[in-house]
Amino acid sequence: MEPLIINGNETAAAIRAEMAKEVAEMKAKGVEPGLGFVLVGDNPASQAYVRMKKKACAEVGITGYDYELPKETTQEELLKLVDELNHDPKIDGFIVQLPLPKHISEEAIIAATDPKKDVDCFHPINVGKLCIGDTDGFFPCTPYGVVVLLQRAGIEVKGKHVVIVGRSNIVGKPLANLLVQKRDGANATVTICHTGTKDIPSITRQGDIVVAAIGRPNTITADMVKEGAVVVDVGVNRVEDPSAKRGYRLVGDVDYENVAPKCSAITPVPGGVGPMTIAMLLMNGLKAAKRRMPK
Ligand code: GUN
Repeated sequence: MEPLIINGNETAAAIRAEMAKEVAEMKAKGVEPGLGFVLVGDNPASQAYVRMKKKACAEVGITGYDYELPKETTQEELLKLVDELNHDPKIDGFIVQLPLPKHISEEAIIAATDPKKDVDCFHPINVGKLCIGDTDGFFPCTPYGVVVLLQRAGIEVKGKHVVIVGRSNIVGKPLANLLVQKRDGANATVTICHTGTKDIPSITRQGDIVVAAIGRPNTITADMVKEGAVVVDVGVNRVEDPSAKRGYRLVGDVDYENVAPKCSAITPVPGGVGPMTIAMLLMNGLKAAKRRMPK
């Protein structure tokens, strides 16, 4: 049977339209949501991500504030900007696009961010809140995007075995934390596979839902998924392609062509999880801005 191709573009657009209505209501009450975007250096992928995030903000009516710094920026200078943003009342939340140049400690920058403005949900306080199921903090954008995408596609995760391949702090670990929680859209049995795992295919084949968050093309192959599984591809990899407009094309971590025919549902790359990540960032921005709403 043909798999359901889960359309992240459409789902994210619907969510942005819902948020645009909310923003209009907030503005009518005098609250203008604002998000800051800090970009250090000239990494083309980071520039592209920040561009897409700002475009989505504009569409929803959130004001985006740009902070572009040269790659020679010192850690001290970046910490000073973070401190300014922490105290700037027009900024409800901000992100520092990663990766940062090698001479700057990402941990130090994340630790200096006010947890109340940490819309990426990278600060240890927010990661801790996520672990204990405290919904007062933020939800991390990509993992939350995966959960909402499955929910809106009508795919129940409760009681399912979700096998996540990849244990990054941005995707694998926080996604596992979200999915094990005892609430709607979660309550799954979760396994994380990583480079220390013995015989990964034998485990992914047990997954009702397999999430690929590895960062390498064609890593999840057809022999690794059971018939009828749901496959979520979080990977975004640039592969050279002289025939493509920009000289490269984007592919996920899944061998899509061969895996898709075995699945009941699958997310494509591009147009799957990516746009959801950005929509969830805006959602966190709104959550932060709502704290300023008159009671
Ligand atoms: N680099 C890759 N993904 C992300 C993300 O979600 N947020 C930030 N700030 N940087 C990233």
